[in-house]
Amino acid sequence: MCGIIGYSGYREASAILVESLKKLEYRGYDSAGIAVADGDIKVEKKRGYVSSLRGNLEGHTGIGHTRWATHGEPSDKNSHPFTGCTGEFAIVHNGIIENYMRLKEELTEKGHRYESDTDSEAIVHILEDEYKSSGDFKKAFLNTIKKLEGSFAIVAIHRGEDRIFGVKKESPLIAGMGDGENFLGSDIPAFLSYTNRVVIMEDGDVCELTPESLTFYDFEGKKKEKKGEYVNWTPESAEKSGYEHFMLKEIFEQPIAMESTIHSLFSADTDFPYYGRITIVACGTSYNAGMAGKYLIEKILGIPVDIYYASEYRLRPEVRERSLVVFITQSGETADTLTAAKIARKRGYKTVGITNVLGSSITHYVDNVIYTSAGPEIGVAATKTFTAQLASLYYMGLSMGEEYGILPQMKFEEFIEGFRRIPRLIEKALDYEENIKKIAHKISDEENMFYLGRGLNYPIAMEGALKMKEISYIHAEAYPAGELKHGPLALVRKGIPVVAIVTKDETYDKMISNLREVSARKAMVIAISSEREVDNYVDYRIPVPQNGSLFSPFANTVAVQLLAYHTAKLRGCAIDKPRNLAKSVTVE
Ligand code: M6R
Repeated sequence: MCGIIGYSGYREASAILVESLKKLEYRGYDSAGIAVADGDIKVEKKRGYVSSLRGNLEGHTGIGHTRWATHGEPSDKNSHPFTGCTGEFAIVHNGIIENYMRLKEELTEKGHRYESDTDSEAIVHILEDEYKSSGDFKKAFLNTIKKLEGSFAIVAIHRGEDRIFGVKKESPLIAGMGDGENFLGSDIPAFLSYTNRVVIMEDGDVCELTPESLTFYDFEGKKKEKKGEYVNWTPESAEKSGYEHFMLKEIFEQPIAMESTIHSLFSADTDFPYYGRITIVACGTSYNAGMAGKYLIEKILGIPVDIYYASEYRLRPEVRERSLVVFITQSGETADTLTAAKIARKRGYKTVGITNVLGSSITHYVDNVIYTSAGPEIGVAATKTFTAQLASLYYMGLSMGEEYGILPQMKFEEFIEGFRRIPRLIEKALDYEENIKKIAHKISDEENMFYLGRGLNYPIAMEGALKMKEISYIHAEAYPAGELKHGPLALVRKGIPVVAIVTKDETYDKMISNLREVSARKAMVIAISSEREVDNYVDYRIPVPQNGSLFSPFANTVAVQLLAYHTAKLRGCAIDKPRNLAKSVTVE
């Protein structure tokens, strides 16, 4: 869960490496470093953000790394790249080397001196030994990676060469094809300013990169044919474009993200096998989208939907059931979700993956892929990918309903119409930013909050609480509003902010009773509701248009996202890079 980059070409490498690392910083930001290989290897690395690098090493071939610490605290010495004992190689690594302890013992016995506490450093010491025996960079690299266990994307350079070797095994690595220059990166935005022609690497692929060529091999050194493809992301989509934070930009991109997701869902026309039961597996925000999917699909199709956190799904014993298993992961790289997908496949389930990233790992582990087309999401807090996931689940419900003739609760045409109106609904909700900003002022000094919802909007309350915790560091808990009186109500006291999502549907009357419960305890009650009547029971109301029950989660999501954003901003938090977190969590 780090970002890595490799460049070889006609330009000065350092500046490109630093720029690319800034684009990858969402993956980790504990420390950063670069190395170039023309002549002797030169390195600049340190604890802190990429912006602390000067990036003025001379040379045309180099590698870079931005770190999210797993093995070894964030520090200068634990920063990548590592250059080993002889300084003739430099490597960067993303993933976990599981046999690092044993390797370290063997290597230190042989006389290698370690400079860091990381698992990654073993790679460069092995490379040195292998090069000593073969005298060939390619052979040495292939022999090195065969000794590693775990997950890894590695990029390596050798003194005086313009060649770079890279490998992908269960951590992302993508090649970018330029003109007189080539790239390897953890993600496409890393080199999107230079090229949009990419080669998606698969697990077990090794890449030999020079300024003029990209050659692919397997671990045995046997050549593999791989095709380049063009991605339709623009460089601007990975820039802030005048917004103060990526998160805010991405919140405001939701109408467009929705348009393109809806368009691509209809164009792809995916088939969903019908088993009469669905299991959803995901983490974090993707889990919350899955939870909304559960409520929706059960409501409109009348078939049972189970949902699991991916880290828990793996503990589930094999049960006798026929179920379509749906994995939701915006990055497509979340380790817990990938492991769960492998388990489901092994057990013979039919699987679907919902992801935002072309060719990401999840796409290799499932039978069918649904791509959300939200464009690159850089802010660590997921926003537009959440609503795009929601749209995909709605679409899934819709097409299953149509195909199997099971839309008992509503008319197909009505649903399609509501679905197509989602971008407009979100657009209208965004108009309430100023109103939300004022409410953020009221809560920004608080340390605890509640979020309440019922039915389809309970998952949106969960997402609101997650966003608030993640970026403002306020402790926020979400409850199905009916649960409050079974314990948490004891914590409701004068002034504590309670955000309640109140929609005009079968949950409305009960939600009004819950508003009364908390306002009787003098909580500061904030309702997200288009119903004027609600003013009688609350301190503040965010009147986003909800357009009835079924599609209201889209508008309500915008409200909770903006509330978290503006509260975090008032608290002076690092909104795009919250502490201890990273965008893709590639460790279990
Ligand atoms: O890439 P994924 O959707 O699999 O990521 C899952 C979670 O790590 C992610 O949603 C996380 O909770 C976000 N930072 C929340 O904003």
